[in-house]
Amino acid sequence: MSKNILITGGAGFIGSHVVRLFVNKYPDYQIVNLDKLTYAGNLANLADIEEKPNYFFERCDICDIDRVMEIFRKYDIDGVIHLAAESHVDRSIKDPFTFAKTNVLGTLSLLQAAKEYWNGEWEGKRFYHISTDEVYGALELTHPEGIEPPFTTTASSSEHHLAYGKEFFYEDTKYNPHSPYSASKASSDHFVRAFHDTYGLPTIVTNCSNNYGPYQFPEKLIPLFINNIRHGKPLPVYGKGENVRDWLYVVDHARAIDTIFHKGKIADTYNIGGFNEWKNIDLIKVIIKTVDRLIGNPEGESEKLITYVTDRAGHDLRYAIDSTKLKDELGWEPSLQFEEGIEKTVRWYLDNQEWLDNVTSGEYEKYYEKMYAGR
Ligand code: NAD
Ligand code: TYD
Repeated sequence: MSKNILITGGAGFIGSHVVRLFVNKYPDYQIVNLDKLTYAGNLANLADIEEKPNYFFERCDICDIDRVMEIFRKYDIDGVIHLAAESHVDRSIKDPFTFAKTNVLGTLSLLQAAKEYWNGEWEGKRFYHISTDEVYGALELTHPEGIEPPFTTTASSSEHHLAYGKEFFYEDTKYNPHSPYSASKASSDHFVRAFHDTYGLPTIVTNCSNNYGPYQFPEKLIPLFINNIRHGKPLPVYGKGENVRDWLYVVDHARAIDTIFHKGKIADTYNIGGFNEWKNIDLIKVIIKTVDRLIGNPEGESEKLITYVTDRAGHDLRYAIDSTKLKDELGWEPSLQFEEGIEKTVRWYLDNQEWLDNVTSGEYEKYYEKMYAGR
């Protein structure tokens, strides 16, 4: 089994939770965090584990195949968990080339490095690629006859979950990406599978729904809105706020990655989701209520900050993952109820204003102003 593990994108949101989990849980592994430290990567996310003897950091661009090869040799890498990516849909609309470069060519360079370094000796090796549900495209908002959504369903193996439609994304759902971000992720997924089918590289792919929790860069809905409410700034709701997302607490995603890395079947695909669908506007009202309560505002005070703005181009209507296969085959399920997860998340951002100030200084502020000018 792999013990010298290269985790790419480990200074980002999900990556930092995966690095923390592996460093703490597997003291006999070497965990190498490879990250370029773009605007989204922040080593402060890992301050609590950076001194651990089994943790190593290498600043590197995944597109730089020579350096990636050097790192494989230096640590005798035998397992890869690949999270490094450009990850924000709005940025991909403004600058699709950066997404093609990092997400497609960067993934290709990692695949090539693994293939060359392992050189056909696949025993005990694995290349695990982290993807998104967004590659599947968008689902309709439909519901069973006579029932207004959201309805609870037992369609999955989970007891009940909120759903806004009859259809879900399954592992064999046809790819149909709409944004430059999801198109680049879909392309990278195809390259990963092609490296298995063509060369025999031991690959696994997972597609996960929207994550939330600590250390998420505040350009994504939940941390952006918590921060804006705290500072009395407008909350830019795209379109009518009718779009639906399936939210999973990030630590549960990290637990799923651990399970799949160790027990998943080579060449297989697993969907990971929260069975937890929310219309954006309803979710935003929960965030407002929670922040207002925790900072001592009267209930509903910050609803006046809701500002409907021009919709995102090509905005996918609904994402909904069915992760029954992962539960049935590997026994993974989300551990946290949404109410508990959102409470923990809001508290974390309110308690970590310094982290927010650090990551939002400079480059991001300018980008943010430009993005919302005229909206
Ligand atoms: P993030 O933007 O927070 O972090 C990305 C990390 O990758 C950063 O640390 C950044 O510095 C690094 N990086 C970017 N370009 C790089 C390059 N060229 N070379 C090396 N490092 C580079 O992203 P995230 O939200 O943590 O997402 C991680 C992965 O999970 C991505 O592959 C994303 O597609 C996938 N994913 C995310 C979500 C979600 O809700 N956030 C859901 C499903 C899947
Ligand atoms: P986001 O967090 O960017 O994740 P994704 O686009 O990958 O789902 O957005 C979540 C939802 O919130 C999505 O439907 C877009 C919407 N949204 C807003 O309405 N306003 C915002 O300022 C942002 C960032 C997102």
